Amino acid sequence: MSLKSARDFFRPLAVGAPAPLREIPARPSRAIHFFDPSNEKMAAKVPGMIGTVDVLLGNLEDAIKADNKVAAREGLVRIAQSTANLGGQSGPTQLWTRINALDSPWVLDDLTTLVPAIGDKLDVIMVPKVQGAEDIHYIDRLLAQLEAKAGLTRPILVHAILETARGVANVEEICGASPRMQGLSLGPADLAADRKMKTTRVGGGHPGYLVRQDPPRGTDSAETDPVFDPGRAIFQQDLWHYTIAKMVDACAMHGIYPYYGPFGDIADVVACEDQFRNAFLLGCVGTWSLHPKQIAIANRVFSPSVEDIAHARRVVAAMGDGTGAVMIDGKMEDDASLKQCLVLVELAEQLAA
Ligand code: GLV
Ligand code: MG
Repeated sequence: MSLKSARDFFRPLAVGAPAPLREIPARPSRAIHFFDPSNEKMAAKVPGMIGTVDVLLGNLEDAIKADNKVAAREGLVRIAQSTANLGGQSGPTQLWTRINALDSPWVLDDLTTLVPAIGDKLDVIMVPKVQGAEDIHYIDRLLAQLEAKAGLTRPILVHAILETARGVANVEEICGASPRMQGLSLGPADLAADRKMKTTRVGGGHPGYLVRQDPPRGTDSAETDPVFDPGRAIFQQDLWHYTIAKMVDACAMHGIYPYYGPFGDIADVVACEDQFRNAFLLGCVGTWSLHPKQIAIANRVFSPSVEDIAHARRVVAAMGDGTGAVMIDGKMEDDASLKQCLVLVELAEQLAA
């Protein structure tokens, strides 16, 4: 279901006149910046970040110690209530949270505390370790009840993290499980563990996952030295290509947004940018940021370049009524390449709005 038709689907539970349903806007969310609401130093930085990042996400799940769960939840309520222009689908920076997993002892309190206290400011709830449509149905009903009780007129949207093998197998039904579905992110750390992959990295590539160029013709490959033979190039492969491509297709089919996820090697800004760019080229609209320096990388990578927009606009102009074929700079453009160009033009307009 597309985001546009999704609004026709919401049935407010509140008695009396049904609340007007708001359009779910396609808002930019290139960087979803994670912060720990129980960390006072981090919390103090939040007001200064409004307008510099598309999404601020108060994290309640992994990376928050068990004895800090309540402080993180309460900290998020305080921050949301005291920060102007944060969340509520109108300000420059959206407010999201990542709740605890559905099989944890904290998640019910997360939802029953947050929705009445700051449901009007919370744009999206990120749900970790989603296994199938049943998890989204549970969240959907619970949110509907809590929203009705709190008198909220705007539905809180839901974002699922793809981080279990079962979740990946069920990715299409997860995307279509509720009109609240806003998007999906890759969760490479949990997913690697669940699949029993042999990497301890959080996202990114791995030097051991590679293909090596064939030895020169006529050489016995067993005799070539794999390390010192400079003639044989090594091509590192992307451990996450399959999952991201599968996630992008499922999201596109349901009209929701795919995101990369965490890149844990904060110091390696070059590899981070490469991973983000691969995801952007494959169809993702954004990624997570675990450190302020990843915000700038994400904003740059997930915005089309000036050159790409200029080229796309030239094609749109040259294609007139959108049918037929034209030659631009020696390359053939037609109805289909026009559609590719419109993806970039529409994204540029959305980011400029
Ligand atoms: C994120 O939650 C991950 O597990 O990578
Ligand atoms: Mg995880």
